[in-house]
Amino acid sequence: MDILKVNDLKVYYKTLRGSVKAIDGVTFTIRKGEVLGIAGESGCGKSTLVNFFVLPKEPMYHAGGSVILEDIDITKLSKNELRKIRYEKISIIPQYSMDALSPTKKIKVIIKDIIREHGKHVDHTLIEERLSMVNLSKKVLDMYPVELSGGMRQRATMVVSTLLNPKVLIADEITSALDVSTQKFVIEMLMGFMDRKIVDSMIFITHDLSILYQIATRVMVLYAGKVVEIGPMEEVIKSPVHPYTKALVYSLPEMNVRFKEKRLKGIPGHPPHLLNPPAGCRFHDRCPVARERCQEEEPPLVKVGEDHYVYCWEVKV
Ligand SMILES: Nc1ncnc2c1ncn2[C@@H]1O[C@H](COP(=O)(O)OP(=O)(O)OP(=O)(O)O)[C@@H](O)[C@H]1O
Ligand SMILES: [Mg+2]
Repeated sequence: MDILKVNDLKVYYKTLRGSVKAIDGVTFTIRKGEVLGIAGESGCGKSTLVNFFVLPKEPMYHAGGSVILEDIDITKLSKNELRKIRYEKISIIPQYSMDALSPTKKIKVIIKDIIREHGKHVDHTLIEERLSMVNLSKKVLDMYPVELSGGMRQRATMVVSTLLNPKVLIADEITSALDVSTQKFVIEMLMGFMDRKIVDSMIFITHDLSILYQIATRVMVLYAGKVVEIGPMEEVIKSPVHPYTKALVYSLPEMNVRFKEKRLKGIPGHPPHLLNPPAGCRFHDRCPVARERCQEEEPPLVKVGEDHYVYCWEVKV
């Protein structure tokens, strides 16, 4: 069952030089019970996409398409209506979540404010239970965010984001600044929220495919504001199809052995500026297999396996 359906979504930024087309015609769904991974290099639009779901802020604006969350198109909601569904239906642990909590309020005030804003009763047992799930003692309730370490602040943010049992939880680059063993610990805590059915589904964002491999059911790869490939995690890692996904996968250190013969020697160039993205496939000027058509026409959606799709002119099925 699909919990969230995103169709041809466009999210741009208004700037003095014109519109930055950060998300430009993105279509996908999130199913109940799954972890959808979103991968792609810096600036490809990952945070723009998910921030739009929970807190669209100027200069970001909706430039087209729909986002259906349980039969409601959230692109049509007012700021106030969006505020109501945030935390209850969809919630985010934002990028840089170590600094996401209001510095002037004690943790208990932050927690109670959110619960009351949504017209719910404060359940102290539940709050303590949730804190212990992320290895925090109830002492943190009486502390200000600055009194906690970065890791503790991040775990307090996890508790705040999941307090009201959102259907969809978004985790945006929450493992990027962590060492490998802390990454594992954070991933286990997140999976705890899924296992206990506190959240139904998750979007997990990272530029690091090896982390996604540990947690995601499916993966969506973005390049310059567009989807290039979406499919089952295992299949995409083992047999990536789009030339950009191949480059991402073959550059994983652990994958070098397995893919030795096929490994690309990196991709020259860098992603296009999204003020004036190129016509055709946005990857064409870095793509080893691009032809003339790729410079002119938008690539078609091609089914390459069960539940596995790519946008590419040069894919042979
Ligand atoms: N406030 C803004 N005004 C104009 N352009 C913006 C703004 N915020 C982001 N952008 C642009 O939108 C594009 C997508 O940015 P976004 O932060 O969504 O990328 P990302 O994939 O999350 O990158 P990262 O991996 O570094 O977090 C980039 O080209 C960025 O420069
Ligand atoms: Mg980001």
